[in-house]
Amino acid sequence: MDKTMTLLLFLFTLLFTTSISKDHCNKDDKKTVLKIKKSLNSHVPWDPLIECGGAGDIKDHIISLIIYGSPISGQIPPEVGDLPYLETLIFGNLSKLTGPIQPTIAKLKKLRTLRLTLTKLTGPVPDFLSQLKNLVEIDLSHNDLSGSIPSSLSMLPNIFNFILSYNKLTGSIPESFGSFSGTVPDLYLSHNQLSGSIPKSLGKLDFNRIDFSWNKLEGDASILFGANKTTGYIDLSRNMFQFDLSKVKIPKTLGILELNHNGITGNIPVQWTEAPLQFFNVSYNRLCGCIPSGGKLQTFDTSSYFHNKCLCGAPLKSCK
Ligand SMILES: *[C@@H]1O[C@H](CO)[C@@H](O)[C@H](O)[C@H]1NC(C)=O
Ligand SMILES: *[C@@H]1O[C@H](CO)[C@@H](O)[C@H](O)[C@H]1NC(C)=O
Ligand SMILES: *[C@@H]1O[C@H](CO)[C@@H](O)[C@H](O)[C@H]1NC(C)=O
Repeated sequence: MDKTMTLLLFLFTLLFTTSISKDHCNKDDKKTVLKIKKSLNSHVPWDPLIECGGAGDIKDHIISLIIYGSPISGQIPPEVGDLPYLETLIFGNLSKLTGPIQPTIAKLKKLRTLRLTLTKLTGPVPDFLSQLKNLVEIDLSHNDLSGSIPSSLSMLPNIFNFILSYNKLTGSIPESFGSFSGTVPDLYLSHNQLSGSIPKSLGKLDFNRIDFSWNKLEGDASILFGANKTTGYIDLSRNMFQFDLSKVKIPKTLGILELNHNGITGNIPVQWTEAPLQFFNVSYNRLCGCIPSGGKLQTFDTSSYFHNKCLCGAPLKSCK
């Protein structure tokens, strides 16, 4: 490649990866982004990543705003609500981003992806998110959010990925989560302080992925299982679930199952040999009886089974 070509390529890359100076972007939108930038204090130079639409309704409006790992401090500025064509809003890995989730985000009716992660945001998971009907992904993980999960969020018709892990959320899982109005989303609620039992309504749903680990949930979690479900991933570890495993049917699609550190009783059913398990851990429960042979159950080492009441059979000691 000759030098001119390299330079052109460099300029091209620069043009499409950084800068508020993107020529074709709508002028008002650019002014808004400048205001946002200004109110996020920093003594080191930085730029948000923006993307502008090109055709149709969107014309040249800003459709994506990403502020990731920048040396900023302060709160999410109210001006984010003044980018009406925004489809993607990401504030990520910002250890000095504080305050609540900005209420003007409610104005972003076209928003599809909202990711506010690895920040110091506090306050509740806002109820107003349920008004943003185009949301496909909500990721609010790794913040300091508190309060309970708003039940209205089940009204989001297009939500596919729902991540509230690693916060300080309390209260129970809303009953309404058993009736998502559209697709059944992947649900990640791990590492919070959620309590109570799993609402019965959730038993009717066929989740793809569910992670409720590291909470204070109790009661019967067997409703999440079922031979006819197509669930691939269930993590319920480090809770206080108590139920009898003996009659629980495992989905024949389940690849990952984590049940360790609960109060689960009974034995591991023979039907469980039918699942294509790749990762399996039932340690630290009160299980008893023989581990059924066949399937994948002998491919795991003793640490997947240890600290139970009286489990036996390979990979543990043979049953008498
Ligand atoms: C977050 O940003 C810090 C620097 O501010 C960096 O060292 C770290 O690797 C980043 N983490 C992620 C997950 O991007
Ligand atoms: C599971 O599916 C089979 C065949 O499709 C059906 O006969 C059975 O009743 C179903 N079981 C449940 C619990 O829905
Ligand atoms: C299973 O979980 C226990 C408890 O967290 C842990 O000590 C053990 O290493 C895990 N085993 C596997 C195979 O993941």
